[in-house]
Amino acid sequence: MSAAADKWTVLRLINWTKDYFARSALDEPRLAAEVLLGHVLSCKRVALYTQFDRAPSDGQLSSFRQLVRRAADGEPIAYLTGWKEFYSLTIKVTPDVLIPRPETELLVDAVLDCARSKSGETLRLWDVCTGSGCVAVAAAKHCPTLSVLATDISTSALAVARENVERHGLAGCVRVEQADLLTWPQTPRPRHQNRFDIITANPPYVTDAEMEQLPEPLKREPDTALRAGTTGLEYIGPIIRDAPAHLATGGLLAVEIGFDQAERVYGLLNEAGGYDDIRFGKDPAGIERIALARTK
Ligand SMILES: C[S@@+](CC[C@H](N)C(=O)[O-])C[C@H]1O[C@@H](n2cnc3c(N)ncnc32)[C@H](O)[C@@H]1O
Repeated sequence: MSAAADKWTVLRLINWTKDYFARSALDEPRLAAEVLLGHVLSCKRVALYTQFDRAPSDGQLSSFRQLVRRAADGEPIAYLTGWKEFYSLTIKVTPDVLIPRPETELLVDAVLDCARSKSGETLRLWDVCTGSGCVAVAAAKHCPTLSVLATDISTSALAVARENVERHGLAGCVRVEQADLLTWPQTPRPRHQNRFDIITANPPYVTDAEMEQLPEPLKREPDTALRAGTTGLEYIGPIIRDAPAHLATGGLLAVEIGFDQAERVYGLLNEAGGYDDIRFGKDPAGIERIALARTK
């Protein structure tokens, strides 16, 4: 191999890293390689395609090598870069928050559909279990008539949510507060004399048994964001039970659920007695991923 062929170019780095990640059983190895290289070179991933022959500096190569090693050891790519794309927005993430998932975008779709049907009205949204604030931020960014409360039990997650709210210029319409959903209905109702039009929630819903089987990158995400308990419904249940006390008549509850929970969640919504129009939204794989219901 000639000296020129030996040079680590962008294309060579992507190809080598993609193969290495594939052997390390990483999901979407080429995407992971490109995201990390784009991060190190401070450019968008697509921009790499216009500079395949570029030779990164020694410092850049050394930073890239370290990140590649950490990713192969199971650190999530989003924690290594510090951001994740959600609803076409860049959301800051740290190991204190769940990494936003594409299926959670269905919650934002539900909010925006609801807002469209009431065009022009100011709507009050409460995003329970906000984590990074991704749902609250995406909804507010796309719908200027929303007034949003974003709550979580974790103070470190709330710090990240606040940063995302500010970074996207939404401090005027998204308030971030600490609240424990298991102590509803005491909090934070006293500050809100009016009821909400929409409640969204992506609560912890992974069972203890499923937690044991999680692949390595998921194990790095906060236990408090994922683990529900023995049944998986330890948080979804109280949300369904208590949400009607916080929603206006005809208000929308939209909750993300686990891949096998739709039937049991339908039962809980029915038993609660306060809901009409119970439906489920499917993810691209055809799995019922969000439960939707209107208060009577
Ligand atoms: C699955 S994560 C969802 C984060 C974010 N909404 C998303 O979709 O990426 C669940 C969140 O619920 C929060 N949480 C756990 N227990 C809670 C409780 N008792 N009250 C309020 N939030 C809680 C966790 O801190 C975590 O941020």
